[in-house]
Amino acid sequence: MKVSPFKLERYFDKYEFSAPYLLSSSDCEPLLLNELLEMADENSRSEWDVLKLGYTESKGDPAFRNEISKLYTSITSDEVLVLVPQEGIFIAMNVLLEEGDHIVTTFPGYQSLYQVAEDIGCNVCKWEPDQNLKFQIQDLKDLVTDKTKLIVINFPHNPTGALISKNELDDIITIAREKGITIFSDEMYRFMEYDDKDRLPSVCDLYENAISLFGLSKTFGLPGLRMGWLTTRNKKFMQEFVNFKDYTTICNNAPGEKLGTIALQNKEKLIQRSLGIIQKNLPLLEDFANRHNKWFVWKSPKAGSIAFPELKINGTVMDFCQDLVKKKGLMLLPHDVYDFSRKHVRIGFGRKSLPEALTVFEKYLKEENI
Ligand SMILES: Cc1ncc(COP(=O)(O)O)c(C=O)c1O
Repeated sequence: MKVSPFKLERYFDKYEFSAPYLLSSSDCEPLLLNELLEMADENSRSEWDVLKLGYTESKGDPAFRNEISKLYTSITSDEVLVLVPQEGIFIAMNVLLEEGDHIVTTFPGYQSLYQVAEDIGCNVCKWEPDQNLKFQIQDLKDLVTDKTKLIVINFPHNPTGALISKNELDDIITIAREKGITIFSDEMYRFMEYDDKDRLPSVCDLYENAISLFGLSKTFGLPGLRMGWLTTRNKKFMQEFVNFKDYTTICNNAPGEKLGTIALQNKEKLIQRSLGIIQKNLPLLEDFANRHNKWFVWKSPKAGSIAFPELKINGTVMDFCQDLVKKKGLMLLPHDVYDFSRKHVRIGFGRKSLPEALTVFEKYLKEENI
């Protein structure tokens, strides 16, 4: 199978490590190694000090899988496969899908959630939100057919920060169960709901033929560890994922697993750290949106570290973003990298530098008379 270019990753590659002001990152402020190590209890700290840099267990370190299983209500450590988050999507789609299969997926979205299926030769139907960026269940129902093999959902959603309700999620599971459809649920932004009451259960806890994806990159501020996991109660899927992983990474990096264990032993602290940054930044962004509401139409997210406001500007959003990054070194993400036709930008507000970035943005707008 040949893979198509990943537009968002190629765009980030151009600017992420040269632009001084990042206003589109999806991860929360990454931790320093020492910050994380300071959270380790005595036992974990001494295990870290004598960590052997050998090959590791293919499914993941048992202690790490045990910590991961505690994030779910019904998942045992045997039902966890540790891998890189992006690898989890690639493996799952390759295992679950064949040329000609019909799938339905939330859209716009993180490209691999639909692109791998398209590259395999599947018929991909896109479940798009309405003008207010709300996903309507009826629209999903209209897309599902008797031939649908897989429903791919991503809540909290990248890039809109949208959530659905628990009842709506139950509706999706009912349809899937009735028609024998598998669900792949990307839950990378879980635990970043602004109101705890909005938090959805993990789909792998609700449905026996679901696979959930989660990891340490976003909520836990540890994207450089490259640690994520698939969870499923379906034993056949799990065995096939394990078999496939022998051709991608075989096993995980030992330091990442040990640091990941320390992170999950301190999960409450890390979640609160990320939510704290978000809750400080969101009002500043909303103020900015109010001041510029003629052309910058704010669409409130319900969870996560990103939003997808609409831009009512002359010219293309791509030109706007390119001019801004060239003149001021400030990076936004245009809707084009999402293959989405409506004029939006992705804004990230999980970084501590957001106030500074907004000041630079305001300066640009003033200079350009916008
Ligand atoms: C929804 C979603 N899924 C998966 C991933 C992949 O995570 P990672 O980059 O840590 O592999 C991302 C990263 O941006 C994402 O936003």
